[in-house]
Amino acid sequence: MSLITAINISVRFAGKEIFSNVGFQVDPGERIGLVGPNGSGKTSLLRMLVNEVSPDSGEIRVASGVCVGYLSQNVHELISGTLLKFLLDSVPGRLKIRDEIQKIEKILKNNLNEQEQKRQALRLAELHHDMARLDIDYPAHKAEKILEGLGFKSDDMGRPVSELSGGWRMRAALASILYQSPDLILLDEPTNHLDIPSVRWLEKKKKKYNGAMILVCHDREFLNHQVGRVISIEPEGIRSYAGNYDA
Ligand SMILES: Nc1ncnc2c1ncn2[C@@H]1O[C@H](COP(=O)(O)OP(=O)(O)OP(=O)(O)O)[C@@H](O)[C@H]1O
Ligand SMILES: [Mg+2]
Repeated sequence: MSLITAINISVRFAGKEIFSNVGFQVDPGERIGLVGPNGSGKTSLLRMLVNEVSPDSGEIRVASGVCVGYLSQNVHELISGTLLKFLLDSVPGRLKIRDEIQKIEKILKNNLNEQEQKRQALRLAELHHDMARLDIDYPAHKAEKILEGLGFKSDDMGRPVSELSGGWRMRAALASILYQSPDLILLDEPTNHLDIPSVRWLEKKKKKYNGAMILVCHDREFLNHQVGRVISIEPEGIRSYAGNYDA
């Protein structure tokens, strides 16, 4: 079953037609390069897949339970907290569990009757159990390894993300997506802010990742190594080609 299916999508911006009745699907594990001239709609297409842009007509279907990670072309959202903590908190569900733990710990400081105390303590034990499971699935050392692969130094782990320059913030965002290991990764020009060692590291890392990926990238060599199918935005619409960019 496909992860995502786009059916008959049409989009206009300020009267200009970007897509007209286009459709495509993304299957599990597929590596897709998304190409097209500047301004042809590559970023808009990715943003549609994560529901940041709504098509004027047509439908995007995401299979249930599918997790999509999106690295935008401009990482400008304010990311709070220190670098390592930002990564750990990006794990789906972790923040919610931590918030609830804090809330219950506060409640338990009040004078509760015995029954209520027991109820809250039980819930707290459950939450700690869930958190411990997340710690096993997403260990902190894995987050550190990814950050190091993308060029961060061990001194950086405790630095506030807000102190980082745009390029390094983008690396932090990329690291958090890789750490979450979603079913589908959407990367919009990830190599723009990376130096050569980090690009090489990312290449190796992505080879090991089993999920699907849509990659927008002007670096043909990088694209050729990474993809097995190309979706091309052409004046006549969207076309899909088997093989890498050269093919
Ligand atoms: N929110 C918006 N409102 C109005 N116009 C928009 C909006 N988003 C994109 N556009 C326009 O839609 C067109 C497609 O933009 P998009 O950013 O998707 O192209 P792109 O292929 O990613 O370009 P690039 O290669 O420069 O990154 C452009 O003409 C852009 O100016
Ligand atoms: Mg773009």
